[in-house]
Amino acid sequence: MDKISLFDKKLLQEAAVSDEQLNSFISRRLVGEPVAKIIGKKGFWKDDFIVSKDVLDPRPDSETLIEAVMEKFPDKNQTLRILDLGTGSGCLLLSLLGEYKNATGVGIDISEKALTIAKKNKGDKAAEFIRRDMRQDLSDLGQFDIMISNPPYISSNEIQTLERDVKDYDPLLALDGGADGLDFYRALAKQHLAPALFIEIGKNQETQIIPLFEQQGWHFVQSWKDLGGITRVLEFKN
Ligand SMILES: C[S@@+](CC[C@H](N)C(=O)[O-])C[C@H]1O[C@@H](n2cnc3c(N)ncnc32)[C@H](O)[C@@H]1O
Repeated sequence: MDKISLFDKKLLQEAAVSDEQLNSFISRRLVGEPVAKIIGKKGFWKDDFIVSKDVLDPRPDSETLIEAVMEKFPDKNQTLRILDLGTGSGCLLLSLLGEYKNATGVGIDISEKALTIAKKNKGDKAAEFIRRDMRQDLSDLGQFDIMISNPPYISSNEIQTLERDVKDYDPLLALDGGADGLDFYRALAKQHLAPALFIEIGKNQETQIIPLFEQQGWHFVQSWKDLGGITRVLEFKN
């Protein structure tokens, strides 16, 4: 990269406490480090979230999942219990808890370092973050009203072809979905912990993912597209 955008430069200027630090930030940006990783925060939905090298930077496309849940659960006073599998920074769960003030949630992740970030983002929200593997039996967590997940969904051999700001700066654990990218959907389909499930998916994965969930007793309800017109979120019911 030989130039940085004016918008990125403005964010770096706002975060830098000295000219020296700004120059260091600009040098890091010029070698491809994402602005969010440099300044340690990323805006998502209605909040800024702390991020680090240990969590995926929240993506605007993932806001589609928040919109989908809000469309299907219009009563914001509902006392919902929400489970977020692969919570990372906690951006999905915490954004929903910001909308549903009477709701509570559990966010699980296999990465202790990601959970440390999620706990920093928690604020006064009624969320609990715990280390669990979404491929294991989670029935001891009890029943929920809604399950949400944005699991790793890039196929292993595709990772090296990703843009540098993703493959070099987002954790591999947040990206790698196994040989065909679908390993975590196979695991999620077996988790019957709520009557409603909303998942984020990668481009063109819906034709493979829908039958995979239906084989495990889920019924496909609806899909939502992101701002780029790509099918991004699927809803299933039990
Ligand atoms: C694509 S990131 C999504 C993070 C966040 N929910 C978001 O939307 O920005 C996937 C997350 O799944 C976590 N993860 C990977 N393998 C896991 C597993 N076996 N069990 C639970 N979480 C896992 C990663 O650590 C990462 O935080």
